[in-house]
Amino acid sequence: MILATTIDDTRAAIAKARVAGRTIGFIPTMGFLHDGHFSLIDTARTNGADFIVVSIFVNPTQFGPNEDFERYPRDEARDKAVLEGKAVDLLFLPSVGVMYPPGSQTLVHTGAVAQPLEGERRPGHFDGVATVVLKLLNIVQPDLAVFGRKDAQQCAVIERMVRDLDVPVKLVFAETAREDDDLARSSRNSYLSADERAIAPALYRALRAGEVAIRRGIHDSVAIEALMRKAIEESPGLTIDYLAVIDAETFLAPADFRRDILLAGAVKLGRTRLIDNVRIARTSLHFSHL
Ligand code: PAJ
Repeated sequence: MILATTIDDTRAAIAKARVAGRTIGFIPTMGFLHDGHFSLIDTARTNGADFIVVSIFVNPTQFGPNEDFERYPRDEARDKAVLEGKAVDLLFLPSVGVMYPPGSQTLVHTGAVAQPLEGERRPGHFDGVATVVLKLLNIVQPDLAVFGRKDAQQCAVIERMVRDLDVPVKLVFAETAREDDDLARSSRNSYLSADERAIAPALYRALRAGEVAIRRGIHDSVAIEALMRKAIEESPGLTIDYLAVIDAETFLAPADFRRDILLAGAVKLGRTRLIDNVRIARTSLHFSHL
């Protein structure tokens, strides 16, 4: 595995791979890698990539002043060793100074899709995400880049940016990888105490309860949100940040249920904030009453 810490070294190694006819697949991460990240590597390969680039960069511009940038979990030595084992071709590990040298001042300004839910609770977060992702895409210039649906709004923001700014990359979105008890895998799960860890799957259970109700024909956002809220409130220790029924494309309230629907939730568990979502494809619902 090539280890690159500068933009020039990264570009030089990738240029060689491209000349050799390789298809470049890119997976940007913030490290502390887990099976969710590894599933993205597999997805890149099944989509034709044969030169896999992973970046690890805890991006300061996407963290708010009172968020967990300083304490975000980091384990570079372990991450490097695991990526070697996954036959990753290049690991890009830039410093903050490499990504944001003195004088840098240009940001991507995200639009409507970045406004609700995470965007509302984390002002500036998606501008930071979009900016770093655009920079990384410009550095790596991959044929395809893979993102996880665990961060559904992030996927939507990046999809919109790539379309709006004509970024020449194919985006691939991978399903959420889960633990045995269905908790979505996340680097932040390492913050949880044993007791909190036992409670954490309640978020996904609540979202699934919403999904079951929709599949049974309850096409009423207010009723679904109330039902999910009730499911969470049965788990002591969880504080609801939001639980929402939204249109999976626009991130607005769905005009009707003949759209792809996203059930999205965020909860606080002690000091840890967990997010998850369930996507319901329009084509999977039956409108027997029509
Ligand atoms: P990070 O949280 O490290 O996640 C890196 C990628 O892994 C993202 O595309 C994320 O959606 C995906 N991912 C995380 N957990 C997953 C899971 N359980 N199943 C499937 N995919 C999962 O997301 C970021 O970093 C950053 O915002 C980044 C895009 C790197 C920009 O800084």
